[in-house]
Amino acid sequence: MTPDPGEIAHVDEIVSRARRSIDDASSETDLREVENTFLGKRGELARAQRSLGQLDALQRREVGRHLNAARAQLEALLSERQTSLHAEARALRLAGERLDLTELVEVRRRGRLHVVERTRQQLEDVFVGMGFVVVEGPEVETDFHNFEALNMPIAHPARSMWDTLYVELGPPESVVLRTHTSPVQIRLMQRQGPPIYAVMPGRCYRRDTPDARHIPTFHQIEGLVVDHGISFGDLAGTIETFTTAYFGADIHSRLRPSYFPFTEPSAEYEITCTICQGAGCRTCSNTGWVELGGCGMVDPAVFEAVGVDAEEWTGFAFGFGIDRCAQMRHEMPDMRVLLENDVRVLERL
Ligand code: FA5
Repeated sequence: MTPDPGEIAHVDEIVSRARRSIDDASSETDLREVENTFLGKRGELARAQRSLGQLDALQRREVGRHLNAARAQLEALLSERQTSLHAEARALRLAGERLDLTELVEVRRRGRLHVVERTRQQLEDVFVGMGFVVVEGPEVETDFHNFEALNMPIAHPARSMWDTLYVELGPPESVVLRTHTSPVQIRLMQRQGPPIYAVMPGRCYRRDTPDARHIPTFHQIEGLVVDHGISFGDLAGTIETFTTAYFGADIHSRLRPSYFPFTEPSAEYEITCTICQGAGCRTCSNTGWVELGGCGMVDPAVFEAVGVDAEEWTGFAFGFGIDRCAQMRHEMPDMRVLLENDVRVLERL
């Protein structure tokens, strides 16, 4: 007897459906389901196998052989598809895990140092580069260090150069919020003898009305040099070196005769106003120049107050406004912005 063509056709029909399902499977999980449906214990081929019992021996052998061939063919197709789906899945996973080193990741914005603090550090760097050391002193000072040892005895008219804020501590008017950094000169010379090459940055307080060039809490950087044979030429050279290092070679500066009780002779150090380039504006009160600080040769009376022999040693001192330096370098028409904490302004400085 010849094999029943109906049985053979049925197997062929199972194979063609299985091929389509294998092709359509889009994942390894899908593929496992297809395998169960067609090749599993209760799958379609297994069912066809079980129905062989109803056939005679010859048909059973022929259809059986056909079934085995169909199973082998489907197993090969499944394995091929399994390999390619596995490769696709791996490629997708790798693409997802790929690290793009050129990608720009948005960095969380951090704060940064205030422009006055950065200016203080830059000024310190300039002077450290010239061989100075950095020294600090207290912001709450005795009358002795802030005034008396600086050649301004009690009731000396020069004290009125500074609108002083007093602290209620000890006898009346004996403790002040320091009006300048000059008292650190005194503390330093009390602590150590010459030679001295030091800068002393810090905060100062005055009862000044805020305006374009003044704020009540501001910063100065004091300088003190004491050695053998120090002259006014050394002072002028130091200031010029500083000006070029901090502002660049294009800025014009000048020393103008002035008066401070603790230096003799004394001078004011000015630069061309960077807001109007010297033409005159509100910031420089129409003078074209902005004062950055005072300076001069250390007065022998100061040496005497701290026990330094004025016959042997000479020295110079200076005190520059740090906020003023920042104002001129960053071309801020009004210094009050430094205290307003407007991030739109501070971000640009
Ligand atoms: C003094 O304070 C002297 N101690 C400077 C000095 C030191 C002279 C050593 C000689 C030897 P004056 O009061 O001029 O000087 O202040 C110096 C600088 O501090 C000013 O030029 C200015 O740049 C800054 N400054 C003073 N007051 C204020 C203020 N209210 N706001 C901002 N900056 C100020």
